[in-house]
Amino acid sequence: MNPGAEAKVYFVGAGPGDPELLTVKAHSLIGRGDVILHDDLVSAPIISLAGTNARVVNVGKRCGAKAITQEEINRLMISFAQRGMDVVRLKGGDPSIFGRLGEEITALADAGIAFEVVPGITAAVAAAARLATPLTDRRSSSKILIVSGHRACGTERGGEKEWAKLIAEDTTLVVYMPGSDLSGLSRRLIEAGTSPEIPSIVVSNVSAPQEQQLMTTLDGLFCAPVNASPSILLIGWALRGAKAHEFIENEFCRVPVY
Ligand SMILES: C[S@@+](CC[C@H](N)C(=O)[O-])C[C@H]1O[C@@H](n2cnc3c(N)ncnc32)[C@H](O)[C@@H]1O
Repeated sequence: MNPGAEAKVYFVGAGPGDPELLTVKAHSLIGRGDVILHDDLVSAPIISLAGTNARVVNVGKRCGAKAITQEEINRLMISFAQRGMDVVRLKGGDPSIFGRLGEEITALADAGIAFEVVPGITAAVAAAARLATPLTDRRSSSKILIVSGHRACGTERGGEKEWAKLIAEDTTLVVYMPGSDLSGLSRRLIEAGTSPEIPSIVVSNVSAPQEQQLMTTLDGLFCAPVNASPSILLIGWALRGAKAHEFIENEFCRVPVY
């Protein structure tokens, strides 16, 4: 990419999927990279921005179903860079949020490879924008807690007791990888002391044509249909004025009243 310059690995945030939400720098690097190593969640329209001579490799892992191991990804980045090729390590959303960035940086640093991190719009922020809602609000929420549900892969983390304490008052809880058991998550949060009435929103495929938004209360999540993947769950009073496409309403679930 830069004749005469040392090859570099660029960790680039691809945002939630819509190419218009790429930063100018991300757009430019994707078009100029010699090698694009992208995660599964990076959308096809964004991958299509790669140069015609670029080598494009899907190194994605979903739910631990590893077509390729983390060590192999590290080795690929290092070996391409050592051959003088600029590598774009393209990650969904922002590379610093649940993106294994720390491990990959350590591998590059150990190998003496130069790198740079280019931020992207993370799913939570993109979802808030689509819902026209703030994540903090000085009237109700002064903190954001970002956690990983990790239930999509059937692994139990059980962090809800901790989260419940934190969101009791003025925190917006953002659950990445919430999995399909939203009713279980909701039940555990309520048992741990969270108000059943707190606004709760699931957004799937944020910014893509197939985006889905479902707004309810925490206890309304009992009735939420299985969410499409990828999806993100937002819980908090700051969301009370959100404009979602769909509301849950049935005889067993509470209906949000605003
Ligand atoms: C491994 S994490 C990567 C997060 C990413 N680095 C970010 O900043 O958005 C993957 C999870 O992010 C969330 N996610 C990423 N892109 C999304 C999208 N377009 N719509 C909804 N959720 C998304 C989902 O919870 C998904 O399971």
